[in-house]
Amino acid sequence: MTRTLVLISILSFPDLMTSTSSYNEAFANQVSRLVIEKYNKLPKTGKPNVNESQWTLLSGICLEENGQLSVVALATGTKCLGVTSYSRHGDVLHDSHAEGGKGRGDPTYSMSCSDKIAKWNAVGWEGTLLSMLVTAPIFMSSISVGGGIAFSQDALQRALLTRVSHLIVPPPPALLKADVVFPAGKRSVKREMKRLGRPICSAHPVGASIIWCNATYRPLEISIEGIKQGVSRKRHNMNNATSTLLVSSYKLLLQFIQLSRREECVNLPYTKVKLLASEYQERMNHCKEALGKWLEVPEEFRQFAVKDMNEKL
Ligand SMILES: *[C@@H]1O[C@H](CO)[C@@H](O)[C@H](O)[C@H]1NC(C)=O
Ligand SMILES: *[C@@H]1O[C@H](CO)[C@@H](O)[C@H](O)[C@H]1NC(C)=O
Ligand SMILES: *[C@@H]1O[C@H](CO)[C@@H](O)[C@H](O)[C@H]1NC(C)=O
Repeated sequence: MTRTLVLISILSFPDLMTSTSSYNEAFANQVSRLVIEKYNKLPKTGKPNVNESQWTLLSGICLEENGQLSVVALATGTKCLGVTSYSRHGDVLHDSHAEGGKGRGDPTYSMSCSDKIAKWNAVGWEGTLLSMLVTAPIFMSSISVGGGIAFSQDALQRALLTRVSHLIVPPPPALLKADVVFPAGKRSVKREMKRLGRPICSAHPVGASIIWCNATYRPLEISIEGIKQGVSRKRHNMNNATSTLLVSSYKLLLQFIQLSRREECVNLPYTKVKLLASEYQERMNHCKEALGKWLEVPEEFRQFAVKDMNEKL
């Protein structure tokens, strides 16, 4: 599976609600349209410019509440960070591809997107830290793939579900295909370039990633090479206080400590804090066995700690 627009839909809390939707193509189209509409409403910073032959990938998560669908999170981007740009402070984002094959050249520690989705389908989409703050794992009711690209139900089933099917507790997510096409995606941009008489071989992904979620505090951030757009790496290394993204490991750890008020996590290395999520870790261990290969960010990049729980986010 490469370079597809993956629209990941419907966050559900199985114990709390039952969906009234039927998961068919019309539903996948509705989800795709909502996510693209949300993307269109965002400012143009970080978006690809077709005049510069740029394209990107888009993914989003929708929530169904009282029969109403809304976009709760959205991200664009195609890149994993190369090994040489990793930081020991947890203050750069390693992985900002909405979906995609691995980058060429500089190797990366990032797992492929389909491995990650398979993992989340098995262990819960909330991730290790958040698992300590929610009462039950979070699973997707459906996963929709956007239109205009090759789609194989069997390949998707194998990549996202089959390998971990014995670990999946709730009904597995429905895998759906939409025919709504993302206009800033690779194929659309190539088509537009052709129309404008530009050489389509110059098409390339835009360097920036847009990260948006429906939150009150800083809902929108634009990332370039793992740090906030507009800050040079040199300046970031000298003073990372404002250039570190909220979705970086460091800031996620800080948010976890501030929300949970768990003072015992102050000065505790990130890896140790994660071990406190014993149930999640147990599910992860089973999942690792099922998936076999498992790329992990090396220890040295996961030893940072929060020193002051009241540090400004
Ligand atoms: C692309 O270029 C055309 C003219 O060449 C211009 O009208 C249009 O605004 C440009 N689009 C963007 C997104 O810069
Ligand atoms: C910022 O970098 C310093 C070292 O220059 C490091 O001690 C600190 O943990 C980093 N903070 C964040 C938020 O990454
Ligand atoms: C964010 O979610 C709230 C409900 O939780 C909703 O009322 C609001 O319209 C949403 N905002 C956006 C921009 O999606």
